[in-house]
Amino acid sequence: MTIRGLADLSVAGQNVLVRSDLNVPLDGTKITDDGRIKASLLTIKTLADQGAKVIVLAHLGRPKGLPDAKYSLLPAAIRLGELLGKPVQLIPEVSGSIAQTMISKASQGDVLMLENVRFDPRETSKVLADRESLAREWAEMADIFVSDGFGVVHREQASVTELPKLLPHAAGLLVEAEAKVFEKVLRDPDRPYVVVLGGAKVSDKLGVIENLLHSVDRLLVGGGMCFTFLAAAGYKVGASLLEDDQVQDVKNLVELARADGVEIVIPVDVVVADKFAADAQVKVVDVQQIPDGWMGLDIGPKTIANFKNAIKDAKTVIWNGPMGVFEMAAFSTGTKEVAVAIAKVNGTTIVGGGDSAAAIRLLGIPEEDFTHISTGGGASLEFLEGKVLPGLAVLEGN
Ligand code: 3PG
Repeated sequence: MTIRGLADLSVAGQNVLVRSDLNVPLDGTKITDDGRIKASLLTIKTLADQGAKVIVLAHLGRPKGLPDAKYSLLPAAIRLGELLGKPVQLIPEVSGSIAQTMISKASQGDVLMLENVRFDPRETSKVLADRESLAREWAEMADIFVSDGFGVVHREQASVTELPKLLPHAAGLLVEAEAKVFEKVLRDPDRPYVVVLGGAKVSDKLGVIENLLHSVDRLLVGGGMCFTFLAAAGYKVGASLLEDDQVQDVKNLVELARADGVEIVIPVDVVVADKFAADAQVKVVDVQQIPDGWMGLDIGPKTIANFKNAIKDAKTVIWNGPMGVFEMAAFSTGTKEVAVAIAKVNGTTIVGGGDSAAAIRLLGIPEEDFTHISTGGGASLEFLEGKVLPGLAVLEGN
């Protein structure tokens, strides 16, 4: 893939639009995990330090195509300003005359941020002409486009796929670094190559599992999605999360894995609760004995031991999705123990997905113990699925 990087640009005195992914979790207006803002900082700072006027484009959540205060980027602009050591002006519209005036009044080295791009329905429109019309308005404000929102490169959206068609462009430092890491694992992983998958939905991950079966040595399945695997293996899963309509697909995948010599490791015991609450009654049971009406919310101690065993000699580990409901202390042990085991691996360790990255930070595991913590949840999965990511493909050539 030949994609220009920041080093190929000359940005002093230029207006540079940077698409970042600042989609951070909020509690009201309080950011509960600023990992994505920190990861976006280097590109923005590098451009500003080189004398560009930087205009950040980003989304937050999934507003319905019109302004909604709940999804304002103001908290992200304030936090970015704190990290940069200088204020970031939030432009109160996605495009238009206020934006043009504020940008023209700003100086070289200043950083501005347009309001949530998803406040304009054209950003996510399925109609190309809509997306193009919004992109044209942005292109008029700037000289150069830098794509640095790795978390959105799998999306066909105005600020991701249409802008680079209108302006000289390059990949930002984050997109460059993320793409390099995932390309290496996709093409030439050091072995044993182990993938640990968790999170709620198996349906989100069937594609990636299918593609991984051609390359991975071991696949470990925990989290809410493991109950569909357990059901496919013939166990009763009580009131646990179960995607009935995926059971046959999972059975087919397990067959494929067997034929490909891939070891799939599923839980042998789980932590069950009588309700989905921090103060629920809790017990550990073998997977043959999940009581009716109880729900599995974490993997059990025997499973943790099996997973650690399957991880310890790995040379590449990719982890996507928590092992249980880690936000509640009673169901956080599986995620924590598996994360610590991955951190100890003497090889390349990659954490993909917003939830797993947030889990690491919440559980206090040092981020530097991993080779790479991705900012892309869906994007990293689609990369591993072998799909062409439109936001990267469009950057090729200039
Ligand atoms: C993410 O949270 O994975 C990215 O910011 C993309 O968000 P989206 O799934 O709403 O497009």
